Amino acid sequence: MSVKYSKETLNDRFTLFTVENGGSKNTFAEDVIAGLTSDPKTLPPKYFYDNAGSELFEKICSTPEYYVTRTEASILKDKSENIADANKGKDLIVELGSGSSIKTRYILNAFIKQNSSVNYVPIDVSEILIQSGNSLLSDFEGLYVTGIIGEYEESIEAATKIFPQPKLILFLGSSIGNFDLPHAEEFLGKLSASMRKGDSLLIGFDLVKNENVLNAAYNDSEGVTAEFNLNLLRRIKREFNSELNEDNFEHKAHFNSNESRIEMHLISKCDHSFSLNGSGEIKFRKGDSIHTENSYKFTDEMIRGLASSAGLTISESWKDENNYFELCLMNKDK
Ligand code: AVJ
Repeated sequence: MSVKYSKETLNDRFTLFTVENGGSKNTFAEDVIAGLTSDPKTLPPKYFYDNAGSELFEKICSTPEYYVTRTEASILKDKSENIADANKGKDLIVELGSGSSIKTRYILNAFIKQNSSVNYVPIDVSEILIQSGNSLLSDFEGLYVTGIIGEYEESIEAATKIFPQPKLILFLGSSIGNFDLPHAEEFLGKLSASMRKGDSLLIGFDLVKNENVLNAAYNDSEGVTAEFNLNLLRRIKREFNSELNEDNFEHKAHFNSNESRIEMHLISKCDHSFSLNGSGEIKFRKGDSIHTENSYKFTDEMIRGLASSAGLTISESWKDENNYFELCLMNKDK
């Protein structure tokens, strides 16, 4: 694989790379049609994050029920010095799925105390990273930002090409939870293969816990999560210029304990159909579901299994006082 990217200089401390979607990958239109014409109907969660969806996700993070972001942030706040100590000598931080970069501030702060300058490389599919990069630059002296807009795999390859020095990779927010276990292993394996000896990965895992807490987090009372889920249909309607009516669907989320995951669905409220350019009629009966997301919840055993299958060593890990969330530092030792 060899990635293609374009480079733009936004200012003397901010460079932006835009990575091309590798030619072998399906487009949004192909993925949507494939998902909606399969049985059961599915849609890939990576398509939640258009600009509106990225903003809705930020709103989810501040709902009272969604403990995930807040809990991880509290661990980062307490442990950022330990994390920086464990990564002495590194001045390169690469973050996958950086979004607003708010939690990252704790880590940047601790690194900047130890190094005179730090290179921060946020990777995201959304242009949200331009705004957040600018706001970091105005708050942190000695920070240099190299944003990469693109999907994970191509962007990691680009980052490895652009920066050869030892790095800490951040993969926060339990984003790994969107993969089913075989794909999580595959993804971590590839990530590990892109790391050099001495590189580290700081990765966040949402843990198995009381089901009521889990269910509430994906059914917030203000309905922000419902809007986030329904926004995927708005995006499809807009990008296909389709007659699809998102009011024909409702949000449903529940913890599936056999699979150890929250499942999000869009449920049809009536019998109806619509077509998308290039598809036949897509038919729904009342109660039919589109499965839009899995969010796996982890046990320590699952985490250890993932690390060892990727050939990474867990050197330290930290949990909050409720055991809701775990941050793990995994090292590439050989
Ligand atoms: C960004 C994938 C970690 O699974 O909790 C939040 C996305 N979906 N509310 C999660 C999400 C609904 C989130 N991740």
